[in-house]
Amino acid sequence: MEYNSGTSALHASLIAYGFGPNDEVIVPSFSFISTANSVLFVGAKPTFADIEETTFGLDTNSIKSKINKNTKCIIPMDYGGMSCNIFEIKEVARKNNLVLIDDSAESLGSSVNGKKIGSIADLSIFSFCGNKVLTTGEGGAIVTDSKEIYEKIKLIRSHGRVDTVAYFDNSSESQYTYLGYNWRMSTLTAALGISQLQKLDKIIKMRQENAKYLSSRLSKFSQIKVPNPPSGYDHIYQLYTIRISDSKTRDKLHEHLTRKKIFSRVYFSPIHLTQFYKERFPTDSWVLPVTEKISQQVLTIPLYPNMTLEEKEYLVDSISEFFEST
Ligand SMILES: Cc1ncc(COP(=O)(O)O)c(C=O)c1O
Repeated sequence: MEYNSGTSALHASLIAYGFGPNDEVIVPSFSFISTANSVLFVGAKPTFADIEETTFGLDTNSIKSKINKNTKCIIPMDYGGMSCNIFEIKEVARKNNLVLIDDSAESLGSSVNGKKIGSIADLSIFSFCGNKVLTTGEGGAIVTDSKEIYEKIKLIRSHGRVDTVAYFDNSSESQYTYLGYNWRMSTLTAALGISQLQKLDKIIKMRQENAKYLSSRLSKFSQIKVPNPPSGYDHIYQLYTIRISDSKTRDKLHEHLTRKKIFSRVYFSPIHLTQFYKERFPTDSWVLPVTEKISQQVLTIPLYPNMTLEEKEYLVDSISEFFEST
């Protein structure tokens, strides 16, 4: 079901499952801030678990160590176009009777062992904001195979109104049965989304080809680790993120690329270290060594479907220039 953002989709999902005060939800700190904020929106507590190095997604051992009697849900995140270790996380969720909501905002179209992201967790959300593979400017969606949750997210999306006929075409009085918001996607935006959806496979293919080119050129630098999807993981490269083990070198490369007018950015700095979370939760309550290490090493560099050979070469040459001068 379409929503007006990935964040409202997350928020609505947590309302639909009825989470609130005294409930805890396990989330990564290595994510966009709204993964954790959505838990706060409903008055529940986000509990940060650590990530694994292979997928940058939640680590099952860390998840297990955070589960207590108040834990109700796990929200893993599929980083930059590739799934987290979703099947093992699902197993942990099942064994502990927890709801599994996949924050797949960044990974529409990717799959693991042939299973599409969005078809594995109890519920998954997507985002269509400006930097996503499919964008409508702003937008989001929720997918679930639960009829009960589907009916709730439909009510939450639009004022708690039972719409059997499109509201703006309906001359009869409406029934309001739930507390709802206006989190609808506009029909204009949805039309844009549908036209993008038809091109999704093509867009992904172009991204994958560009990623292949960049990886083949960049893997010759011993200082760089290029993305390396584990076997069975289909990466759609919403982000093309390299790793540089020394954070000072990473920061200098970022500055060098900025001087060369090339956009690069750290996705993500840990959520638990943002000012807002530090003020709300003492940082010593979290022990997240892999999250803190990875966030010191990652740098996302440009990759987009219609990137020309000249642009790719300019990027690789600029990186090469940096390493030759250091
Ligand atoms: C992992 C993740 N979760 C949630 C969101 C929120 O989506 P939106 O920006 O559409 O609200 C984003 C997108 O920025 C994201 O990358």
